Amino acid sequence: MGVQIPVVRPRRLRTTPAVRRLVAETRLHPAELILPLFVREGVTAPVPINAMPGVVQHTRDTLRKAAVEAAEAGVGGLMLFGVPAVQDAVGSEGTNPDGILQQAIRDVVAEVGDQVVIMSDLCLDEYTDHGHCGVLAADGSVDNDATLERYAEMAVVQADAGVHMVGPSGMMDGQIAVVREALDGAGHQDVSVLAYTAKYASAFYGPFREAVGSSLKGDRKSYQQDPANARESLRELELDLAEGADLVMVKPAMSYLDVLRQVAEVSPVPVAAYQVSGEYSMVEAAAANGWIDRERAIMETLTSIRRAGANQVLTYWAVEAARMLRG
Ligand code: PBG
Repeated sequence: MGVQIPVVRPRRLRTTPAVRRLVAETRLHPAELILPLFVREGVTAPVPINAMPGVVQHTRDTLRKAAVEAAEAGVGGLMLFGVPAVQDAVGSEGTNPDGILQQAIRDVVAEVGDQVVIMSDLCLDEYTDHGHCGVLAADGSVDNDATLERYAEMAVVQADAGVHMVGPSGMMDGQIAVVREALDGAGHQDVSVLAYTAKYASAFYGPFREAVGSSLKGDRKSYQQDPANARESLRELELDLAEGADLVMVKPAMSYLDVLRQVAEVSPVPVAAYQVSGEYSMVEAAAANGWIDRERAIMETLTSIRRAGANQVLTYWAVEAARMLRG
């Protein structure tokens, strides 16, 4: 029996770069990339982060330069994380108007605030000596409602410093409502809220702990979501929308593309995804060993995250990817 000659040939649309370009369903654009940046108090030179080759804790000065570089590459947003010199039980530096993050916000807004959306992490883990995202109750558990009071204060000091968008990332119940109310009460109606809506208790945040000098001993499983669950992300979405989120986020990205897809299908507001530190470092490590093609892997991961439904992608490769996209 002879081979059946196919009439339908999907390969036709894959034959040349021109036809592949014509039929590509997903396109990345620098404007939808958001670069996370770390700024460390009291250092005179950038400090390399071992677990994230190519990423540093900036000084205030090099942060400004990195912000300009990102703006020139066409990146759409910057997400700032502060690394304070002093940590304590309640994360006091997070609400110090002259704390490192607030200084950095003022610097960067002055430098590139008219070209790029400036965002700040609104969470206590960078500032607490126990490393949790909130304040602790007497029994050592993370106290949801006491933490909300701290978040409200943080939102106001960050907005006073001039930030355009705050990113509450601590997964406390009710955090978006409290932050929105605090911002409005302080006259910051125009500051938007990027809600970390579906945030999982993930091993892929490992390198970030070094990046922010977090001393966390245990884990965050009593407030971040269980990787086994998808459904509760839709509940978190409903809540964040009702509480006033302007954008919502799924995090991490690559191991949660199904969650991202489900959220993207029903969300009436833009959906961001965070390609987190461990996702970055895995690719960098494999590439450094010659096991994968670094640039192809970067673009493939970003394309997959967009294809799954993300409108914005936070990625440590934002500047490099933006440059690649511009050829
Ligand atoms: C919390 C926060 C974390 C990350 C972003 N915001 C750490 C955590 O929740 O444990 C992780 C980002 C990354 O891994 O790149 N402030």
